[in-house]
Amino acid sequence: MNNLRFENNTLYLLDQSLLPQEEVYITPKTKEDYYFAIKNLQVRGAPAIGIAAAFAMALVDEDKEELKKYLDSARPTAVNLSWATKRMLAAYKDGKDLIEEAKAIYDEDVEMCRKISEYGLSLLKDGYGILTHCNAGELATSRYGTGLGPLLLGKEKGYNFHVYTDETRPLLQGARLTSYELEKAGIDVTLICDSMASTVMKEGKINAVLVGADRIASNGDTANKIGTNTVAILANYYSIPFYVLAPTSSVDFSIEGGDDITIEERESEEIKEMFFKTPSALKETKCFNPAFDVTDSSLITAIITEKGIIRKPFKENLEKLK
Ligand code: MRU
Repeated sequence: MNNLRFENNTLYLLDQSLLPQEEVYITPKTKEDYYFAIKNLQVRGAPAIGIAAAFAMALVDEDKEELKKYLDSARPTAVNLSWATKRMLAAYKDGKDLIEEAKAIYDEDVEMCRKISEYGLSLLKDGYGILTHCNAGELATSRYGTGLGPLLLGKEKGYNFHVYTDETRPLLQGARLTSYELEKAGIDVTLICDSMASTVMKEGKINAVLVGADRIASNGDTANKIGTNTVAILANYYSIPFYVLAPTSSVDFSIEGGDDITIEERESEEIKEMFFKTPSALKETKCFNPAFDVTDSSLITAIITEKGIIRKPFKENLEKLK
């Protein structure tokens, strides 16, 4: 996919806000450019924003402590952002080559995604129907993805999956990004509105749900794209395995449970105006636009990381990752 590319001392980012209509690369230079790109989802997905921020820490010539704080404030929920900037700050204090460190974060992400994809694929059978929400594919990472990783790896190995992707209101990552990515990879994909997930489950079309995560608490509660909790509740009702796929850098051991996760709230225009020819509601109508929700760990069948498949009890088993 080549969504994040470092060449000639420049980071090239495939502008995800323009997909799937236009494939345009942006080249952020200043700290404001990076902040804007992260805040406005030109680069998005937990691992991908971590990688972009790591290059920002290496390439922007500013006070690194201040730069870290500024970049972290662009999006508060995904822990990978502050995880990457923290690692870059430590590398700076240790006098390491920051470009090499950012490249290492990228390379490790490729390796992590590959392992997550292998573990994830071991849980799936050829011909399975899969439901996914948001975009946890290559666009959200370096390569393969997390939630979509087993599907892309499976395609390479000759598996045929039938994927249903929720459109993922209000920013349509499922419609704009997941369907684009899977079409490009030659994987059978069907787009549905978020409200149709129960119908495809009830009709027996779904064997497993695969999603990414933005932050995982010590007890296994996970923050995911808004709407994921609804999918998890439905999957449990219909006895369909609900898998969360994420690198261990998404586990935040400093928090006990989901209530401690800061949920980003975004502008009401995203609900009422974006993607509509005319606004869908009156200007004065209030909106509530949380970008993520928390899935209770009891609803999760397994958390799939690069270090293996973590099952319940999550608290004890996540602890072993330390
Ligand atoms: O708001 P976004 O598009 O950055 O949200 C992304 C997601 O919720 C992803 O599913 C998550 O970051 C996992 S990425 C592998």
